[in-house]
Amino acid sequence: MGSMRPSDFNVLEYKMQDLSELIESAKREFAEAGQAAALEDAKARYLGKTGRLTMLMKELGKLAPEERRARGQEINRAKAQVEEALNARREALADEALKQKLAAESIDVTLPGRGRSEGGIHPVIRTWMRVEEIFRSIGFDVADGPEIESDWFSFTALNNPPNHPARSMQDTFYVDRNDDEGRPLPLRPHTSPMQVRYARTHQPPIKVIAPGRTYRVDSDATHSPMFHQVEGLWIDENISFTDLKGVYSDFLRCFFETNDLIVRFRPSYFPFTEPSVEVDMMFTSGPRKGRWLEISGAGEVHPNVVRNYGLDPEKYIGFAFGSGLERLTMLRYGIDDLRLFFEGDLRFLKQFN
Ligand code: DAH
Repeated sequence: MGSMRPSDFNVLEYKMQDLSELIESAKREFAEAGQAAALEDAKARYLGKTGRLTMLMKELGKLAPEERRARGQEINRAKAQVEEALNARREALADEALKQKLAAESIDVTLPGRGRSEGGIHPVIRTWMRVEEIFRSIGFDVADGPEIESDWFSFTALNNPPNHPARSMQDTFYVDRNDDEGRPLPLRPHTSPMQVRYARTHQPPIKVIAPGRTYRVDSDATHSPMFHQVEGLWIDENISFTDLKGVYSDFLRCFFETNDLIVRFRPSYFPFTEPSVEVDMMFTSGPRKGRWLEISGAGEVHPNVVRNYGLDPEKYIGFAFGSGLERLTMLRYGIDDLRLFFEGDLRFLKQFN
């Protein structure tokens, strides 16, 4: 049997006064318990194994039978009152907890909704998709290739050997690892490596475009360190410069949805083509008419490059081009600052969706 508290009384000699004081003090302690756990502690002090009422019950056995009956009834009535007070307090605390929970989770139905905004297609990607669609419609395959590219595919295979001055046209970034020849791995500065990758794994006629991300050490209103190009390649036994002129001019008319443009092929230099050209175009109607706009590099593929395709340059010939997707997008929508494409400003981007 546990030790009795100093204020406790003995079953043999308590007075009714003591019993009602016990009930009152239980009620008080229950009322003071602000939380369920505190209430259970208070309950234990009265109804637990060594609780005051329990102790009284246990001592009943010490009484003579007729006295035991009367006192037993008194104690049971007291116990019932304490239990009633306990249950009432339990309910009150549960109500209180529920009220607090509801208040914390309450929803203000008068607040305006947050809305559900839809994503959209980036204007450059829109151009990418459009270019694919146009070239697929005239029988071109679409290929994809690595952005971390070997030095050989990026330059050497394209008739641009180490230390050749033309390499400076395409100053790019390098990752901290070397390729199989011990040269640092570049981020491809153009999509032209895809000419070689694709041609080495396909048989002529080869008719492919390869759109994708490209990288250069350049940053201003018309250059970004990351940008997009689309490479084009058509190789067969007799694909001439005339074919380039026809295909590319038609492409521009489809892309800009107008016949009111003229195209010019201006002599230029690229290591991988001979002859090489810059393609310029001019609108002949509308707000942008009358100004030549540079749009692409192109040319007849150099025999050395055809050889690197694994093909005989005496037999196979064709054209290639490489165009900037940002450039095409800027001309299509009349955008004058390339940096807008990469700032993620929704006010700009929303206009295209
Ligand atoms: N790769 C060149 C560049 O990024 C563009 C280019 C020019 C690609 C002529 C070609 C080409 O395929 O024939 O500057």
